[in-house]
Amino acid sequence: MKKLIIRGNRDLSGEIHIGGAKNSVVALIPASCLTKGKCVIHNVPDISDVGILIKMMEYLGSKITYENEVLTIDNKNLKVKPIPTEYSSCLRASYYFMGSLGGLFHHAEISYPGGCTIGARPIDIHINSFKKQGFKVTEKDGTYTLDTHKLKGQDIFFDFPSVGATINVMLTATLAEGTTRIINAAREPEIQNVAEFLNNMGADIQGAGTAEIIIHGVKELHGAEVTVIPDRIEGGTYLIIGALLGKNLKISGINRDHLFSLISKLKDAGVSMKINKDSIIVNKSKNLKAVNVKTSVYPGFPTDLGQPMSAFLTQCKGESLFEETIYENRLRHIPYLTTMGANIKSWDKKAVIIGNTQLKGRKVKATDLRAGASLLVAGMIANGITEVDNIEHLLRGYENLVHKLNTVGADIKLIDE
Ligand code: EPZ
Repeated sequence: MKKLIIRGNRDLSGEIHIGGAKNSVVALIPASCLTKGKCVIHNVPDISDVGILIKMMEYLGSKITYENEVLTIDNKNLKVKPIPTEYSSCLRASYYFMGSLGGLFHHAEISYPGGCTIGARPIDIHINSFKKQGFKVTEKDGTYTLDTHKLKGQDIFFDFPSVGATINVMLTATLAEGTTRIINAAREPEIQNVAEFLNNMGADIQGAGTAEIIIHGVKELHGAEVTVIPDRIEGGTYLIIGALLGKNLKISGINRDHLFSLISKLKDAGVSMKINKDSIIVNKSKNLKAVNVKTSVYPGFPTDLGQPMSAFLTQCKGESLFEETIYENRLRHIPYLTTMGANIKSWDKKAVIIGNTQLKGRKVKATDLRAGASLLVAGMIANGITEVDNIEHLLRGYENLVHKLNTVGADIKLIDE
C-alpha cells in the first residue's frame, strides 16, 4: 500500500501548474472508439486512471502512444470485445465504453463499472436511456450486454442531471438515426469538452453545457484532435491549500470560470486572491470566517471539492454548516479529521464544523479519492507528521502530487510498502 508522510505547517511559495481534467479525459479516451480513425488528445494528465484506460483500449485492438501529455490513438484494428471486470471495476468511467462501442458496433459487453465507494451509484439513467434509443440491455452475472439493429434519436428526459449519463447518451446519439434531445442534461464543463471532441469528429451536437442538448445523428465519425480542459477539482484543491499556507502561491493553467463557486466561498471566508483568466495568486489568510457550503450540480459548489473544503472549514472561526447533496456516503473523511483535532458534529449528509482548531498530525486513511484530498489538506496544516494511508485513491486524480507540492515548499514523502 502506498502512503504519504506529510510534515505540516510549511509556507508554500512559487507556482503549481494544473493538468488536464480527469473527469474529462476518462470520457474522451473511450469516446475515440466511435471511429476507426486516428485521434490525438492533448493535455492528458499523468494519472492512474489514464493508465488503466490505455490498457483497456489496447485490449480492444487500439494502438496508443502517450508522450509529453499527448495521447495518440489509432483505432484501425479496433474490435468490440467483452470488457472484463479486472478492467471495468477499476474506474467508474469504464461505462463510457457502453456508449462508444454501442454507438459504433451496435453491441457492447461490459462488467459493472468501479469508482469511489461514495454511494450506491446506480446507472439506471444510462440504461433506461439506452433502451429508449433502441438497445436491448441484458444484465447477467455482473455484466451488461447492449444490442441493437438500429439506434434511433429520441427525446430523453433525465430524472437527475447525471454527468455520466449525459455523456453516454451523447456518445450513442452521434450515430443514431434522427435527432436526440436530452432534457435536464448535466451542465458540467467536462460535458462541453466531450461535445467539442465529438463535433471535431464530425458529430452535430448543440447545447452542451446547458440543460438541453440536441444531437443530430450522422452516418459516421472520423478521427480528430482535442485538448483536455484544465482540471477544476485539482485546481480547486490546490487553491484551498494555498488559502491556508500560500505566500504568493500561483495556481496556473486553470479556467477561473470553472471555479466560480469555490472562489466565491473562499472570498466569503476572507481569503485574498489575485484572480487572472488562467491563474490565481493566493495568500494564506488569518482570521478566516465560517461559511456554509452545500454541494450541488454545476454551476453549484462541486461535490468533488466538498471533502477538501470541509478540511478548510476547520480553520474558519465560527460554525460552518457543510451539506453534501449528490452522494449518500461522502463524509467518510470526517472521523479522520476529528482524530486530528477538528471539532465536527456530523449526521446523515451534513456536518457542523466549528473552527478554528489547530489540527495535529495523526495516522489516517483515504477511503476514497476526495476523502484523500481532504486528509492531504488537513495534513498540510497540522502540527507534526501526518501519515495518509491508501493514497492509491489520491493518485487516481492528482497528477505528480508530491512533486507539485514539494516544489513550492511542502515536505511530503511517498512511501510504497
Ligand atoms: C461524475 O460521476 C464524476 N466522475 C464524479 O467525480 C462527480 O462527483 C460526479 O460526476 C458529479 O459531478 C467522473 O466523471 C468519472 P453522476 P458520475 O452520474 O458521472 C446518481 C471524482 O471524485 N445517479 O452525475 O457517476 C449517482 O448515484 C468523481 O472525481 C443515478 O442515480 O456522476 C449520484 O448520486 C467522484 N443513476 C448522482 O446521480 C444514474 O444512472 C451523481 O451521479 C447515474 C447517476
